Amino acid sequence: MSNYHIKHLEEYYQVYRKSVRNPEIFWEEIAEEHFMWRKKWDNVLSWDFTKPEVKWFEGAQLNITENCIDRHLYTRGDKTAIIFEPNNPEEEAQHISYRQLHEKVCRFANVLKEKGIQKGDRVCIYLPMIPELAISVLACARIGAIHSVVFAGFSSIALSTRINDSNCKMVITSDGSFRGAKTIDLKGIVDDALEDCDGIESVLVAKRINSEIHMKEGRDHWLQPLLDEAYHDCVPEIMDAEDPLFILYTSGSTGKPKGMVHTTAGYMVFTAYTFKNVFQYREKDVYWCTADIGWITGHSYILYGPLCNGATTVMFEGVPSYPDFGRFWEIIEKHKVNQFYTAPTAIRALAKEGVKHVEKHDLSSIKVLGTVGEPINEEAWHWYDDNIGKRKAPIVDTWWQTETGGIMITPIAFCTPTKPTYATLPFIGIQPALMDENGKEIKGNQVDGRLCIKFPWPSMARTIWGNHQRYKDTYFSAYENKYFTGDGALRDEVGYYRITGRVDDVIIVSGHNLGTAPIEDAINEHPAVAESAIVGFPHDIKGNALYGFVTLKESGESRNHDNVRKEINQIITEQIGPIAKLDKVQFTNGLPKTRSGKIMRRILRKIAGKETSNLGDTSTLLNPEVVQDIMDNVL
Ligand code: WT7
Repeated sequence: MSNYHIKHLEEYYQVYRKSVRNPEIFWEEIAEEHFMWRKKWDNVLSWDFTKPEVKWFEGAQLNITENCIDRHLYTRGDKTAIIFEPNNPEEEAQHISYRQLHEKVCRFANVLKEKGIQKGDRVCIYLPMIPELAISVLACARIGAIHSVVFAGFSSIALSTRINDSNCKMVITSDGSFRGAKTIDLKGIVDDALEDCDGIESVLVAKRINSEIHMKEGRDHWLQPLLDEAYHDCVPEIMDAEDPLFILYTSGSTGKPKGMVHTTAGYMVFTAYTFKNVFQYREKDVYWCTADIGWITGHSYILYGPLCNGATTVMFEGVPSYPDFGRFWEIIEKHKVNQFYTAPTAIRALAKEGVKHVEKHDLSSIKVLGTVGEPINEEAWHWYDDNIGKRKAPIVDTWWQTETGGIMITPIAFCTPTKPTYATLPFIGIQPALMDENGKEIKGNQVDGRLCIKFPWPSMARTIWGNHQRYKDTYFSAYENKYFTGDGALRDEVGYYRITGRVDDVIIVSGHNLGTAPIEDAINEHPAVAESAIVGFPHDIKGNALYGFVTLKESGESRNHDNVRKEINQIITEQIGPIAKLDKVQFTNGLPKTRSGKIMRRILRKIAGKETSNLGDTSTLLNPEVVQDIMDNVL
């Protein structure tokens, strides 16, 4: 028997050693015993980080939806697969069993086929957190179409950029979405986006808010009548192990968003195995991850990982503050949630509201708590531990990335002793390394450096859609023969890792990964702006907030700064979305630059964070005089 379910720390160490000494044998056993294959692989792993090229389970054939749905029909057909909790608590929750999910996915898959979608085609999904989102993702996977889910908080320009980058043929959306007390006109955003997208042949529209919307003749179709007419069964497309399963965009420090490509077999094996172990999921448990399926957390740990284990997974449409700040706790009580997985930014926002909202609810079902998305500060960790877990539920602080597909460094609940702010130990099969500035690996404990991974793992992204060179440059060029994460980390005296944050120009705001370049590009579109630089600064709830240093074309006085500030945020909202808005905008006479003309964000970061006691040597700057002026006017 393979070690599918790890039960104590000794076993973790033993299995970890096995997974590192003999990765192929280890993963072959896991894959063999716990998944459904149409054909087994010829080769477990081939890899070359210099190309880079990685293949897991080459030659195998499968369909991930057979693993997530069909195989459970015999053993747990009537078990709830998805609990849908609507935005409005007055609206009834839906319980979708595995059998019902099977039928819904099959019908949807047949609609996709009927609209001309074939294996390998890209389908963009722009939906709120309603059952149709889960079902359409799985329907794509059923027929081998590559889904590209775009978070429904992104603007029309962000949406059209993503649709065009991967030449999507279809968009799946809804007439609108509920968000707390507000409604959002999603279809209007799609219509705007499609003005710039020639490749889209059809748009499927789910009904959610019952608003009057414009339907373009020949292009737009209401979903429900098509589903009603579709056949209730659909033979799954047989996929090769390395066929792409989905594309998911993430921001980089420069350039347009990167379409990370995840493939089928390795992604399935790793997300399922990590889910089972990290959260110690048991058959009768109810698991809830509060992320949106528009992010990787939702892909891997609302849908694929849980469903592959036959779990009951909660999907919440709303926000933590509606109708009040007790909503999360109310939902935990209502559905008797056993594993709860959320982000530090949500924990901080809820902690700020005090324990009065928590005390009204019975949280005794909670067994395991999880956090993801950014480093969790000590205060938030303790608040979560004391008030939500009542010091009885281990907190799994899970470090990973869109690019890694699954959880990489994490405690295993009930096995790994936790330590506040530490993601602790590498998951089974994961080989981290800390690197110094000269590209050498730092061995031993009580050290810090840049976090790399030395050996392939099954769910790593295989490429960036349409730009393999960029994939190589971004992840495999900083350190020879290693995957570079972009994060800094330290390793303590027992080998526990603590992630210290990004070492590049990516800023994590409320757990969302924002690259500086696209935001600066947006700001620079303002006719009055000459130049700009964005840095992150510490924020109580968001973790980081954005601080913009902006130089205007004609020196400031004649302009109304408040107006320019507002207009800048308007442009950002249009081009990217409200999540990228600046909290502070400081107008400057110049930006500190190196002699080669590169903006010194390091200095600006310190000024924005009010850490000016140690600015470092500024004398070699091209324009050292601007620094004092910027410091004097800091906001
Ligand atoms: C970046 C990846 C993985 C799903 C959500 C984010 C940061 C993520 C942690 C954690 C400290 C974390 C890193 C990473 N991050 N989890 N537990 N502790 N930092 O996915 O948008 O691709 O962002 O999020 O900086 O590189 P993403």
